Amino acid sequence: MTNIDKESLENAYLLFTSGDIQKIEVGTTKGLQKIHHYLFDGLYDFAGQIRQLNISKGNFRFANSLYLEDILPKIESMPEENFNEIIAKYVEMNIAHPFLEGNGRSMRIWLDLILKERIHKVLNWQFIDKEGYLQSMERSPINDLKLSTLLESNLTDDIHNREIIFKSIEQSYYYEGYEKVSLNNISNYFSYRLFY
Ligand SMILES: Nc1ncnc2c1ncn2[C@@H]1O[C@H](COP(=O)(O)OP(=O)(O)OP(=O)(O)O)[C@@H](O)[C@H]1O
Ligand SMILES: [Mg+2]
Repeated sequence: MTNIDKESLENAYLLFTSGDIQKIEVGTTKGLQKIHHYLFDGLYDFAGQIRQLNISKGNFRFANSLYLEDILPKIESMPEENFNEIIAKYVEMNIAHPFLEGNGRSMRIWLDLILKERIHKVLNWQFIDKEGYLQSMERSPINDLKLSTLLESNLTDDIHNREIIFKSIEQSYYYEGYEKVSLNNISNYFSYRLFY
């Protein structure tokens, strides 16, 4: 784990322990930019900024940067009335991939905020296996059934449980390829903070 990623992980914890998470606009591009900025401020000079370059992963090329200005408002206005609509919106935002780096981590928090607000559930990411998740993300631009099924079976209505939230953050950073950190250490470290 690089220093950037360690510091970003700390920022991710702080986003929740500070209560700042409650100030983030839900389901919008601006909200996603705020999350990205929070995670990567001082670490990447493009923190919170929409990319102006084209990027790809594996065989998939994300939206051309020239279109982002047009498609982001359209994605933002997609409905979020039920689980399937929320996943469809998440899939489109992933295809947009608005940042140069750190899209996955920012967007998983963004997705959880929508789920929490709209269906009063969050994902229990600790049980969502890395390989299965990444495969279903790769598949999702063509068909999102595998992703929906995987995510739907890992919803929880225990939305204020700090252990679930901490473990989800750890798992999210683990998808990027970093080692897991011990929850005990993290919990001790943050135990003096108020948790919202
Ligand atoms: N081939 C693919 N097609 C579509 N989406 C993909 C593909 N590969 C990865 N993804 C999605 O993109 C995310 C990675 O994007 P990016 O590297 O910008 O984010 P990150 O936060 O740095 O990394 P990570 O999400 O791995 O922690 C993955 O988590 C997954 O959600
Ligand atoms: Mg990455």
